Amino acid sequence: AFKRDEVKVIFVLGGPGVGKGTQCANLVRDFNYVHLSAGDLLRAEQARPGSEFGELISTYIREGNIVPQEITIALLRNAMQEAVSQGRTKFLIDGFPRKMDQAVKFEDDVALSEFTLYFDCSEEIMLQRLLKRGETSGRSDDNIESIRKRFKTFIETSMPVVDYYRSLNKVIVVPCDKSQEEVYSLLKDKIRDRMDI
Ligand code: C5P
Ligand code: MG
Repeated sequence: AFKRDEVKVIFVLGGPGVGKGTQCANLVRDFNYVHLSAGDLLRAEQARPGSEFGELISTYIREGNIVPQEITIALLRNAMQEAVSQGRTKFLIDGFPRKMDQAVKFEDDVALSEFTLYFDCSEEIMLQRLLKRGETSGRSDDNIESIRKRFKTFIETSMPVVDYYRSLNKVIVVPCDKSQEEVYSLLKDKIRDRMDI
């Protein structure tokens, strides 16, 4: 297993539909980081034949609730291990930690985060993006009922994580109500001196 000082971890947070995945893809193009999306890992586990957690994950996702941290952290740890064994040790962990217990457990057991990127956006804009994405995403949670629940979970459960890291001075805020291109250029300016190529 890899050691905690062997890896470098940046958390990526922001409301549903804010564009975390899109901006992480931009960063991966320009910097040598491995992008791991907690939501994507959960969806892959849900779809994996024989998974003992498939049904549980699908219920949590549809309801916009946070999957028990043991499951998500195990998936992240496995994905990180695989990357480390290929010599890749720098990670953008997208959509995680979404709840305080995930933050504490991950930093205790896996690695400390370097900092958190927080994408800030109004609900109206996120709602528009999610409804648009829902036309083609095939996701069980890109519908208006699930979206409302995800917004509620974000405010009640995930914002405390952002506030916690803010209190430690470990948050870089990126306003996200502009076009993807404008957001990325702003993001790059903010992190240039904190990311390794
Ligand atoms: O980040 P994404 O929108 O893909 O996450 C989809 C869903 O996956 C969340 O609404 C939540 O149900 C679940 N999830 C979670 N814990 C995380 C990330 C995602 O439970 N850290
Ligand atoms: Mg995503």
